[in-house]
Amino acid sequence: MKNLSSSEIRNMFLDFFASKQHMIEPGAPLVPVNDDTLLWINSGVAALKRYFDGSVKPANPRIVNIQKSLRTNDIDNVGRTARHHTFFEMMGNFSIGDYFKEEAIAFAYEFLFSPEWIGLDVNKAYFSVHTGDNDAYNFWVKNHNIDPSRILRTDDNYWMIGNGPSGPNSEIFYDRGPAFDPENIGEKLFFEDLENDRYVEVWNVVFSQYDAVEGQPISSFKELPQKNIDTGMGFERLVSIVQEAETNFDTDLFKPIIDAISKLTVVQYEDNVMAYRVIADHIRSLVFTLADGALFSNEGRGYVLRRLLRRAVRFGKVLGIEGSFLNGLVDEVIAVMKDFYPYISERRDMIVELILSEEKRFAKTLAGGEKLLLDSIKASESHNIAGDVAFKLYDTYGFPVELTQEIAAEYHFTVDLEGFNIALEAQKERARSSRTKTESMNSQQEEIMNFTVPSEFVYDALSLESTVVGLFVDGKRVDSFSGKGHVVFAQTPFYAESGGQVADTGTINAAAASGRVIDVQRIPGGQNLHLVEVEGAIEEGQTFMLSVDRQRRVLIRKNHSAVHLLQAALKQIVGDHVKQAGSYVDDEYFRFDFSHFERLNDAQQQEIETLINDWIAASLPIVTEEKPLDEAKKMGAMALFSENYGDIVRVVSMGDVSIELCGGIHAQGTGEIGLFTIVSEESVGSGVRRIIGKTSKGAFETLKASEMAIAAIRDQLKLSPQKSIHDKIQEMSDEIKTLEQKFQEVMGDVLNAKTQDYVNAAHVINDDLKFVWIDLEDQETEMVKDLVERVRNHVDVVFVANAKADSVTFVVGMSDAAIKNGYKAGDFAKAAALVTGGNGGGRPNFAQAGGKDITKLSTAKAEIFNKVGINL
Ligand code: ALA
Repeated sequence: MKNLSSSEIRNMFLDFFASKQHMIEPGAPLVPVNDDTLLWINSGVAALKRYFDGSVKPANPRIVNIQKSLRTNDIDNVGRTARHHTFFEMMGNFSIGDYFKEEAIAFAYEFLFSPEWIGLDVNKAYFSVHTGDNDAYNFWVKNHNIDPSRILRTDDNYWMIGNGPSGPNSEIFYDRGPAFDPENIGEKLFFEDLENDRYVEVWNVVFSQYDAVEGQPISSFKELPQKNIDTGMGFERLVSIVQEAETNFDTDLFKPIIDAISKLTVVQYEDNVMAYRVIADHIRSLVFTLADGALFSNEGRGYVLRRLLRRAVRFGKVLGIEGSFLNGLVDEVIAVMKDFYPYISERRDMIVELILSEEKRFAKTLAGGEKLLLDSIKASESHNIAGDVAFKLYDTYGFPVELTQEIAAEYHFTVDLEGFNIALEAQKERARSSRTKTESMNSQQEEIMNFTVPSEFVYDALSLESTVVGLFVDGKRVDSFSGKGHVVFAQTPFYAESGGQVADTGTINAAAASGRVIDVQRIPGGQNLHLVEVEGAIEEGQTFMLSVDRQRRVLIRKNHSAVHLLQAALKQIVGDHVKQAGSYVDDEYFRFDFSHFERLNDAQQQEIETLINDWIAASLPIVTEEKPLDEAKKMGAMALFSENYGDIVRVVSMGDVSIELCGGIHAQGTGEIGLFTIVSEESVGSGVRRIIGKTSKGAFETLKASEMAIAAIRDQLKLSPQKSIHDKIQEMSDEIKTLEQKFQEVMGDVLNAKTQDYVNAAHVINDDLKFVWIDLEDQETEMVKDLVERVRNHVDVVFVANAKADSVTFVVGMSDAAIKNGYKAGDFAKAAALVTGGNGGGRPNFAQAGGKDITKLSTAKAEIFNKVGINL
């Protein structure tokens, strides 16, 4: 076998497919952009959906990528097997309506088995194809001489994610030899799909040829107008085979990280491979997700990160590593990966800081988990920790079940593993069902996808005359229609929805027909497709007057420019880590989502508003230019890192405060925006904040509304014009305080009067001491203490039980005579508290304690009466 490093293997893969005329698509960030159906990019194709569903035509139909991916559905297998990961890289080649099965199989064969490339031994390879896929079977057997006895035909080989493009697949497996098969089971492991590390799946080649409809049988799926190829090869697995490593963790991708961990513990790698592997795997996931803009939080993506970190920390504990250590492994991951992913070095400090503060936070939570476990150990009579408790510890506190078992074992307890697994499976099932629902692709619309007649969008016009060059009803090309349908004009002033900016609306007019433009979308050929509703018949070749709704467009462009200013202001005031996560702009408001880990406080919001209104007042010029991409980047233009820009890009700059790549429509100068205001700032989960704001007319209306609300308050408070609301509120709260004091005094008097009643009800104990028990409900502690003092002037032992909804407080007072007779207030309070599940104590003459279990109050009372020698 060739001696290749992981970096060489990546390059070899890209070189191979480049030599087959594929264009190299840069990897997308792990956090999906413009795709809210996916939590993470989890395969090569996930980053290329737009090509698969036909909504965008790639510059070259042959594509190759190496895609960072994250999957947590197999998290429990990580570390247990040789080949499971959360973060991994998937190498893939794709054909968008270009080559199909025969070539895809030939490429995979050549790359893996030709001595010029990877050069694996084909005699160790096994193959699987879909039962009904004779073509794939024949290509392997006839074109590549594969022995049929090494091919598995199975119904399982069908790849779909919900609706949309799907198809049979063919997988290539590699036999790593009997050393990986301790029970010497052999081929049966492969043919019966048994869990094993011997026959490793290397490459999955999907023939994306049918339009899947969820819930329908595969045989009923229709052929897709455009057939695609989607492949995925597990990079770490290939590296481990090439490097003849025992597991993926023994390759040059992981070795340095494992070595770094071994410096932190006395436990050797061989003595706890699982713990080492989990930490090495999870730290890679953390570095890449944080670098790609995700942040720790309690929901969605951020929650996944939180669980990964906690799991890694707990396994650190299993290795006896104390304190925050994960942040110290970040540099090792960067050292291994930076050649191919140089950007992670630039974000190093941020990643280290985020991991460190999350480790500190977790140290605090851990104490809570340990308490839960110890409480259930105390409460259990069966010496068994229930499955749901183990699951809660796992799910909420990040305790691996092994750790729960270990702690439990110290107390001679076992863990109900079966119950734990049931709870775990139920959670996975929930995740699975939500996944298939959300990950679907859109279906292809053949005639719109293949429409090639050109059309030009004219930026600077609000109206123009143009001819109809294409008409469609329900996705099918027609010569004419009336009512609703889609139109392409040779030229159009209507902006198609894109970059967060909504589509224009407006009218189209001709002698024979007229109507409204309801929506506009860009189609794969690059034309703007107008959804219209017309009266009369619209026909191809007719000339129409196209007019955009002017007022609406003007308000949209002000909001769009405000979003650029907002991004610039956020970077200036909040920090450079702020990255756009999404935006929406229409004529009424704008929305801007960005990565940031905490609420923007009021002062920050005001600073942002002030800065932007200053920029507006300065009437900065807004200039739009077309430039080569390289030049634009050199100018420092902010670009969306996931977006695929062409060679020539549109650069929008506003004075010297903002410069962004943007295809949208903008105000003519910042002065046109008029006024800017933030309406709300909130979390939308996973470390993403959302600002909603308004400009010009909308901003004025918002500010006017709050002015009117204030006027209404003044009116209600009957304030004279000189008086501030603040002063009035101060007066009112002073008044409330005085009233409260008065109320307490009155209550004191009432209690005073009652004191005599209590004294009269005292029992005589020990021949000459007086004892009284007082039941109260929901009284202030200070008042109760006061009462105890007062009653104690007349009796020797005062015992007050003050019951609340879910707790009880005991306050006890003893006279000197009672103390001389051996009674202690502390003992009494403690005795009652213990009965009611609490604790406490105090001095001999005065004590206070609390209990939680209010149902035990009568038992406590009996206990106290017993202590003073009275049988209740
Ligand atoms: N999309 C295919 C997979 O994820 C290649 O396995």
